[in-house]
Amino acid sequence: MITLTPTKTPLQGSIDAPGDKSISHRAIILGSLAKGNTRISNFLPSEDCLYTIKVCQQLGVKINYNQTEVEITGQNLKLKEPSVPLYFGNSGTTARLMLGVLAGQDFFSSVYGDKYLSERPMKRVVTPLKKMGAIFDGRENSSLLPLSIRGSQLHSIRYRIPVKSAQVKSAILLAGLFAKGETTVIEKGKTRDHTEKMLASFQAQIQIHENEITLIDNQLQGTDILIPGDISSSAYFLVAALLVPNSHITIRNVSLNETRTGILTVLKEMGATFTITNEKMVNHEPVGDISISHQQISGTVIEGDIIPKLIDEIPIIALLATQAEGKTVIRHAEELRVKETDRIHATVQTLKSLGAHITETKDGMIIKGGTSLKGGKVSSYFDHRMAMMAAIASLICQEKVFIDELDSINISYPNFFEHLKQLKKVST
Ligand code: S3P
Repeated sequence: MITLTPTKTPLQGSIDAPGDKSISHRAIILGSLAKGNTRISNFLPSEDCLYTIKVCQQLGVKINYNQTEVEITGQNLKLKEPSVPLYFGNSGTTARLMLGVLAGQDFFSSVYGDKYLSERPMKRVVTPLKKMGAIFDGRENSSLLPLSIRGSQLHSIRYRIPVKSAQVKSAILLAGLFAKGETTVIEKGKTRDHTEKMLASFQAQIQIHENEITLIDNQLQGTDILIPGDISSSAYFLVAALLVPNSHITIRNVSLNETRTGILTVLKEMGATFTITNEKMVNHEPVGDISISHQQISGTVIEGDIIPKLIDEIPIIALLATQAEGKTVIRHAEELRVKETDRIHATVQTLKSLGAHITETKDGMIIKGGTSLKGGKVSSYFDHRMAMMAAIASLICQEKVFIDELDSINISYPNFFEHLKQLKKVST
């Protein structure tokens, strides 16, 4: 058990947001498949993204990296048959996106993940990829890892995606790089569009009409990519600053991609004020610096089309809602049940153990605000976002928080505690 002791020290000063996890994965994969060399700056060297690098290396791609700087020698779409099963660790993005890539290769591969990833649904990508001609075998009719893939000549499809998932969309578009003809996906609701934007950075021809995305050709040209800061990681400190009295912080270089800024919309709806400065575009992605201070906020309703734009931030938004004035209702978030853990259940259990008034519903939760948190014993469920939520909660608890582990934080934010220390130090 690890003990987190509340300090009540305000958070002040500024940090650079760590590189975006979703964009880091995509830069490695597209750089590996492109013709020519790719240089990536501000890459996120977290466990999940390092699995993507390792898997691409096992597929014959030359990748050199030093923390946040990466150099890739692109393979012009042709990878090498791996001699060992490919391990994806805990990373759903590596798994779903690489299944799209492996389906179109001219070789056999087998893939697996850790015990949490092995329970997460793969049918959502296997079904459309099979429609493109992919050949899979695996547990429960190829719906769970481990899976084997017999690469084959794919054909293009026009596919209406039944779940709101950027990973599914990306797997199909990546498979489309190996298919004859144009591949079209139609989204049920807008999800993060980093694959589309990055395909454009690699000079692929892609057409977007509302929720319909078509990959026209399969040319990828290596390029230089600067990764924007991750708003999902920044969310922990935005919320911490709102919650801890006398805090005032700036997070620099945060991605402001409108498919990811649902948390900013919700903060505004809860009555929070913040400023955004230094706005600019990097590789088709908008970024800026966000400054925010401690303030009282109110409850809100979070539902509908905004859910995919803040799906990973719901646990930390739920913590914020425990301190808001009034009630917060979160609906239509059933996708949370198939994340690294069931995050509806885990969020409700964690906050309840700390003393919050929170109720689990089928597709979300109801949180009664204005309850001071006591502290107590919680589990991280070996889920990085749950662990970080508990760590931020401990800042405002009256007593200590005991948690089973915090190593899972390395999955997405290896500098989390360094940044927390940095923000606390300025004020002392
Ligand atoms: C991601 C998409 C989302 C998100 C995940 C990263 C991506 O998952 O929750 O953390 O990089 O495409 P889904 O595609 O399952 O919604």
